[in-house]
Amino acid sequence: MFCSRLVLVSLTIVIYSVNLGCSATLAPDEVDALKQIGKTLGKNWNFDVDPCSEGGNWSIPNAPEGSENAVICNCTFVNNTICHVVTIALKSQSLQGTVPGELVRLPYLQTISLLGNRITGPIPGEVANISTLSDL
Ligand SMILES: *[C@@H]1O[C@H](CO)[C@@H](O)[C@H](O)[C@H]1NC(C)=O
Ligand SMILES: *[C@@H]1O[C@H](CO)[C@@H](O)[C@H](O)[C@H]1NC(C)=O
Ligand SMILES: *[C@@H]1O[C@H](CO)[C@@H](O)[C@H](O)[C@H]1NC(C)=O
Ligand SMILES: *[C@@H]1O[C@H](CO)[C@@H](O)[C@H](O)[C@H]1NC(C)=O
Repeated sequence: MFCSRLVLVSLTIVIYSVNLGCSATLAPDEVDALKQIGKTLGKNWNFDVDPCSEGGNWSIPNAPEGSENAVICNCTFVNNTICHVVTIALKSQSLQGTVPGELVRLPYLQTISLLGNRITGPIPGEVANISTLSDL
């Protein structure tokens, strides 16, 4: 009785870690791009957590309208193993940086909103080159 319980416990642990290994993560290029983007915007994201995990303050659930703070990804690429950033919403987050040209390194980006911050300077030419971007 005691032995068969032990076997069950270890099986559970193995299955759990396999599932974790299969979960989708953000493409490494885009993680690097977000590091630069965070610096330029003055946003301290937590890179110990995958940006697409919605944990670690990457996506605050149920934020009031006008104060959205979220990075949203599509994780259906390469058999649901790779994510790409599709939306960045950083509204009223007291940001004081500039619009990052590095946004061009997020090739699947569709929407970015920086309303309600003190972002200064021009919109970099590269940003106009993001063919998927429909809303800035
Ligand atoms: C999320 O943000 C809060 C408040 O800024 C901070 O105290 C907390 O450590 C952050 N959590 C993570 C996982 O970054
Ligand atoms: C995610 O990307 C795939 C491939 O481009 C697309 O078919 C799908 O509709 C997207 N999913 C969402 C929720 O946007
Ligand atoms: C995706 O999964 C299918 C079915 O498991 C497999 O046949 C295919 O080779 C996989 N494709 C990639 C790019 O891993
Ligand atoms: C935008 O793309 C065009 C065509 O690829 C390129 O010639 C141009 O240098 C790009 N502009 C910027 C500012 O990156």
